[in-house]
Amino acid sequence: MTTLDDIRDTAREILADGKGILAADESTGTITKRLEAVGVESTEENRRRFRDLLFTTKDVEQRLGGVILYDETVRQDALDGTSMVETLRRRGIVPGIKVDEGAKDLAGFPGEKVTEDLDGLRERFAEYRELGLRFAKWRTVTSVSDTLPTATAIELNAHVQARYAALAQEAGLLPIVEPESIMDGDHGIDRSAEVTEQVLAATVDALRRQRVALEGVLVKTNMVVSGYAGPDQAGPDEVADRTLAVLHRTVPAAVPGVVFLSGGQDDAQANANLDAIARRGPQPWTMSFSYARALQGRPMATWAGAEENVAAAQDAFATRLQLTGAATRGDWSEDAERAAS
Ligand code: 13P
Repeated sequence: MTTLDDIRDTAREILADGKGILAADESTGTITKRLEAVGVESTEENRRRFRDLLFTTKDVEQRLGGVILYDETVRQDALDGTSMVETLRRRGIVPGIKVDEGAKDLAGFPGEKVTEDLDGLRERFAEYRELGLRFAKWRTVTSVSDTLPTATAIELNAHVQARYAALAQEAGLLPIVEPESIMDGDHGIDRSAEVTEQVLAATVDALRRQRVALEGVLVKTNMVVSGYAGPDQAGPDEVADRTLAVLHRTVPAAVPGVVFLSGGQDDAQANANLDAIARRGPQPWTMSFSYARALQGRPMATWAGAEENVAAAQDAFATRLQLTGAATRGDWSEDAERAAS
């Protein structure tokens, strides 16, 4: 019987010693786009080879406390014949699973999304536990513009996040709750802050109402940045101040950890912003990264599907982890980033 203490221990273990999370949980559709962009055919075998490359990179366990996997991967073996899940466990990395099936158009609300598919989740959680997974992730997305999101979209997604989190805790799995406000668009940082605050507040409120123990949840969020297409781009100090102000207003200190997605920021920008956040000193929660693109983009491009590039791709991944790890400690520098690229 897993207790809340066990779930809290999972959170602590994942974020111990400045470690963070690799989100290697792209659905087949998403990873197909990323592989094709570097000229690699998205076969099951190529997806396995790429993920094997990441998980067997030397010393990754020094920077990664957890890896989020996709359903296909938890059923695959690494190239040496050990299961992918066991490969991570042997390194002391906690394996987790993305359980949402993607954001879908919200009927009646043009431009907005909802993440559904709660049916059968209790049974899926039971199976994932059997497979050795200890945490889960669920992502909802909120579009940001002058007129969006609607209150209805915020409410619906918050409700679903809490249903998912309650079922995860019931199954003894640590839920990562990821309500992402999308930073595409030309909105300014004020609008990003306003929407991120509304979304996080609604999510935490739904968690409370549905009796989810906040001590057994990790919050995964976007940083509060200027809309990517906007004319003025806020620098790291402003991003850090705005992000922390929103988090202080919305995420109770009972939550053990807050982790950031990279959200399509370029690698250096994501690290500069994370570093500025970390430099503002201890916060009520442990803070770290849970990046997909900002950690995997370069290794994937370096690999490009060729066996002879595996070592160079693993070096590229190790470098990204080192730089993002430094940013998590507030110890990152632009010079180090430049020297590495
Ligand atoms: P990015 O870091 O690429 O935003 O991905 C994080 C993630 O897990 C999105 O669900």
